[in-house]
Amino acid sequence: MDAIKPASVVEAKDARIPLLGLGTWDLRGRVCARVVEQALRLGYRHIDTAQMYENEREVGEGLRASGVKRDEVFVTTKIWPSHFAPRELERSARERLAQLRLSEVDLLLLHWPNPQIPLAETLGALAKVKREGLARHIGVSNFTVALVEDALKLTTEPLVCDQFECHPFLDQSKLIAACRKHGLAVVAYSPIARGDARKNDVLKRIGAAHKKTATQVCLRFLVQQDIVVIPRTSKVERLSENAAIFDFTLSDDEMSEVAKLGSRDGRLVDWAYSGRMKWD
Ligand SMILES: NC(=O)c1ccc[n+]([C@@H]2O[C@H](COP(=O)([O-])OP(=O)(O)OC[C@H]3O[C@@H](n4cnc5c(N)ncnc54)[C@H](OP(=O)(O)O)[C@@H]3O)[C@@H](O)[C@H]2O)c1
Repeated sequence: MDAIKPASVVEAKDARIPLLGLGTWDLRGRVCARVVEQALRLGYRHIDTAQMYENEREVGEGLRASGVKRDEVFVTTKIWPSHFAPRELERSARERLAQLRLSEVDLLLLHWPNPQIPLAETLGALAKVKREGLARHIGVSNFTVALVEDALKLTTEPLVCDQFECHPFLDQSKLIAACRKHGLAVVAYSPIARGDARKNDVLKRIGAAHKKTATQVCLRFLVQQDIVVIPRTSKVERLSENAAIFDFTLSDDEMSEVAKLGSRDGRLVDWAYSGRMKWD
């Protein structure tokens, strides 16, 4: 597909992360394998999965069925916080590869912080897994500014990203600034606000001026700031729409207008989830 430029990447430390990825939360079974396969055939070069999604096997199947070479695809998975004790993390990392049927992943993330287990121990195990060649890069997800800064002090291997909720309706400027300051890529999850972007009048109006949909304007707003996006769809026909975001540019005024949609309480995923849960 012309509009996808597989070469569009963001560089963080020694990682080159494709700006567009496919999210796979909630995609299961044959639908998951089919959407992954079709996405790769269309030109997507980045797939986001997790232990918790229980679909790594199907993600691996879709990858192999696509015929795209393994080294052309950036595969991310995440370890669930109940597996953060060092030995358990190492075991879980091997299990991820077994499920995916891959010899390494491109990026392995801690899915949420787990205050019950010392971060230094978990990061030590994550670094070990990287040194052993199970993951090319490591990073975190759902880490706050303070936790990112703690993690950077404690890690012995570079952390390349923080993946967190990020879309025009949520003001994440502080966390984005902290990531930039420390050289971490920002990976935006729920980048189209779980589908709500399509209903927004400002995004619709800007889209009409570019012959684009509101969803495309939403994704463009993020990638134009070098924020990696991983929109999910279960519908093959939407894969192309979500990918056609590299053939137009929003003006400075349009970018400012979209930025004004953000509020501090625009979160869709319950952040309270992170600190207070017991992860078992
Ligand atoms: N690290 C974490 O804790 C975390 C948390 C949440 C998500 N994630 C990752 O981020 C990915 C994306 O986030 P998300 O799944 O929460 O939400 P999202 O990608 O913002 O939105 C997905 C929803 O939007 C709909 N949609 C997709 N394309 C559309 C289009 N062009 N027009 C209208 N609606 C469209 C989908 O429905 P259809 O299927 O019907 O198209 C689905 O209901 C996840 O899949 C997962 O990989 C990570």
